[in-house]
Amino acid sequence: MNQESYYRWWQRTDLCYQREQLLFAGRRVQDLADQFGTPSFVYSTSRIQENLTRLHTALTAADLAGQYSLHYAMKANRFAPLLTFLKQTGLCGIDACSPGEVEHAVSCGFAPSDISFTASSLSAQDLAVLARYDGIFMDCDSLHAIHCWGQLKPHTKIGLRVNPAMGIGRAANDKLHYAGDVTTKFGIYQEQFAEALDIAKSYGLQVSKIHFHTGCGYLTPQLEQLERIITHCFWFVDQAGQVERVNIGGGLGVPHVDADQPLALERWAAVLHRQFGAQGLHVEIEPGDYIVKDAGLLLLGKTFVERKKNTVFVGVDAGFNIAPEPAYYNLPFQPVPLHYDDSTCAAMSVVGNINEALDVWYEQAWLPDLTAHRHLALINAGAYSSAMASNHCMRGQFKEFLLF
Ligand SMILES: Cc1ncc(COP(=O)(O)O)c(C=O)c1O
Repeated sequence: MNQESYYRWWQRTDLCYQREQLLFAGRRVQDLADQFGTPSFVYSTSRIQENLTRLHTALTAADLAGQYSLHYAMKANRFAPLLTFLKQTGLCGIDACSPGEVEHAVSCGFAPSDISFTASSLSAQDLAVLARYDGIFMDCDSLHAIHCWGQLKPHTKIGLRVNPAMGIGRAANDKLHYAGDVTTKFGIYQEQFAEALDIAKSYGLQVSKIHFHTGCGYLTPQLEQLERIITHCFWFVDQAGQVERVNIGGGLGVPHVDADQPLALERWAAVLHRQFGAQGLHVEIEPGDYIVKDAGLLLLGKTFVERKKNTVFVGVDAGFNIAPEPAYYNLPFQPVPLHYDDSTCAAMSVVGNINEALDVWYEQAWLPDLTAHRHLALINAGAYSSAMASNHCMRGQFKEFLLF
């Protein structure tokens, strides 16, 4: 990457330099950092709304109007003001994956009937909580879950989360695959599907939905794989017999590095139209990343710049524990200066304040002389960041702000 492309690939109308100042959601990011302090997450409501609208527009343009629903996977970001905002847009329901998420979604204004529930390893306590929310739609991901739900709500409709043993994910990143060559805990495999249907039948449950989520972060080059997975999943639809809906999970990705291109949504929607358009099946999509990831920045204070052997380290005032994706999943969050600086860039590694070897925000980022910079912003921090934060090393403090 050269200096120019470093500064350019991530800029867009609502996240860009103007008169040398980094602007986000119409604000100077330096003002946000000075006012809120660091570390702070800031989320743009207009970007979230744009992301949702872009999805609806693509699906409608592909002739799927009235044949799809969108559920936001709240595990990506459960900041209460953000969820309340989403509810008020009226543009999505919720995909929840724990009883706690169900209660939280309801506390933010969603009705149980807005919620599609897909979880693994359900306990008796989990079921006791879920039973209090009439109208939640349950996707059972194991034989165990079918037994549990059958005892609780016999003669109702359920979904079955299946595992097609085929995965998808950003580039060749296996860590993002939920299915594939390696056997995972997610969903019911083809080999056990007949047994799953028998168990459902024994409780009078009608399997009206097939659900699968096979990986995260896919972009345009992975759309052929998405189509192969969907095609394969019709086997489960056919076996189940009375299926009305298919949930294709989330997984839609956003660019993380210069070489990534945004997902070509019209091509993505065309896949759904080809597969489902004439089938009379309702399609559910439950994206998390795509809706909130690029709508969030993490604002960090610079603590030091120091060369050690042949590497220049830039220290910041928070570590991987408050936004674990880069460390856990090798998904880089590009660091960007709050002021445009045309001094010659050099490679620097941005590191946090946690005593763990994996506490590296970005290896060899292309950054200018930072002497006059007090802060850095990390882009793509709107998903799987604060929601996955821990208090490791007792450095779990951060603030969150929703920008209107
Ligand atoms: C079942 C299920 N649905 C949806 C999602 C959302 O995925 P993403 O944020 O990649 O769109 C996940 C995330 O892992 C998931 O496990």
